[in-house]
Amino acid sequence: MKLLVTGSSGLIGSEVCVHFSKLGWEIHGVDNNQRASFFGPQGDTRWNQERLERDLPGFVHHELDIRDREGVLALINEVKPDAIVHTAAQPSHDRAAAIPFDDFDTNAVGTLNLLEANRQVNVEVPFVHMSTNKVYGDRPNTIALKELETRWDYDDPAYENGITEEFSIDQSKHSLFGASKVAADVMVQEYGRYFGMPTCCLRGGCLTGPNHSGVELHGFLSYLVKCNLEGREYSVFGYKGKQVRDNLHSHDLVNSFWEFFKKPTSGEIYNMGGGRHSNCSIIEALDLVEDIANISIERSILKKSRVGDHIWYISNLTKFKKHYPNWKQKYNTKKIIEELISNEKY
Ligand SMILES: NC(=O)c1ccc[n+]([C@@H]2O[C@H](COP(=O)([O-])OP(=O)(O)OC[C@H]3O[C@@H](n4cnc5c(N)ncnc54)[C@H](O)[C@@H]3O)[C@@H](O)[C@H]2O)c1
Repeated sequence: MKLLVTGSSGLIGSEVCVHFSKLGWEIHGVDNNQRASFFGPQGDTRWNQERLERDLPGFVHHELDIRDREGVLALINEVKPDAIVHTAAQPSHDRAAAIPFDDFDTNAVGTLNLLEANRQVNVEVPFVHMSTNKVYGDRPNTIALKELETRWDYDDPAYENGITEEFSIDQSKHSLFGASKVAADVMVQEYGRYFGMPTCCLRGGCLTGPNHSGVELHGFLSYLVKCNLEGREYSVFGYKGKQVRDNLHSHDLVNSFWEFFKKPTSGEIYNMGGGRHSNCSIIEALDLVEDIANISIERSILKKSRVGDHIWYISNLTKFKKHYPNWKQKYNTKKIIEELISNEKY
């Protein structure tokens, strides 16, 4: 079996490559290290590309920009993959405003290039698209919340198990990144619904894992751990540091792709994050790092919040678990942080 993975040198893409390579698949990775041009040297992903080339038998790297429409068609035609995982993206909420064309051309148009090439070559190939909870814009901030000692929490029983896919993506502030990801998400759904192709969108919460080139603007837990272990100042933006994110380890996420490939549907969307099993506020994350690494962290909690930042977001995973009952989460937030700390060789 052949798998085409876009964004193969990134956090999620690289985990996908490793997972499916272990299952004996031939892996074709597509990445042009665009992360370094989005975020500078700290975002450089060449180390991860080299790791894959060194460690994975049958891994082939393709240096291709997904904005290159003809190049994408030629590659899919040449490789003829049995499945596609699309993770290449400009992934930062905050960065998008400075680079609106790069953001939209990568996230929206790049996704269209891949879908259309896939349709022209083989409509039966399952296509998993990494979408984001930012498609809901800042609408989650309209949920009634109560302030607890270390976090905000829902104050409306409808959200006891988190936010479902029924939540509206309309009429809220998304950031340009959220808007370009909405365009991609709806296009992936449309190729499923209109053309009957086996596509699905996974709307990620905070995704993390050992292979993240974490930077301040993207990669929350990875950056938080790295910054604090190196003794650099870590700034928390707004909401008293009590904003809640749900954290999913890349290993658990990749298992959800595998479940989809075994039983693909058309045009589905799923919220996919740590859910009730794995979430934390920022100050809870800092407390955990202090405890596990036995360090003391200087906290700078700024009044100003990030534009459109979620105050409380927990993915409701009921739909995915119902469709794919074999999917299980191995990691919770504490286990993720322990692994990130041990990987920093502290
Ligand atoms: N990490 C998270 O917390 C998170 C949360 C929700 C959704 N997502 C989504 O998951 C996907 C993967 O995220 P990630 O954290 O692995 O990001 P990442 O930045 O670590 O990886 C993305 C990879 O895509 C590559 N890339 C970017 N533009 C490209 C282009 N034009 N052509 C070819 N390659 C290109 C980059 O070089 C990078 O290696 C993205 O779609 C992101 O929006 C991530």
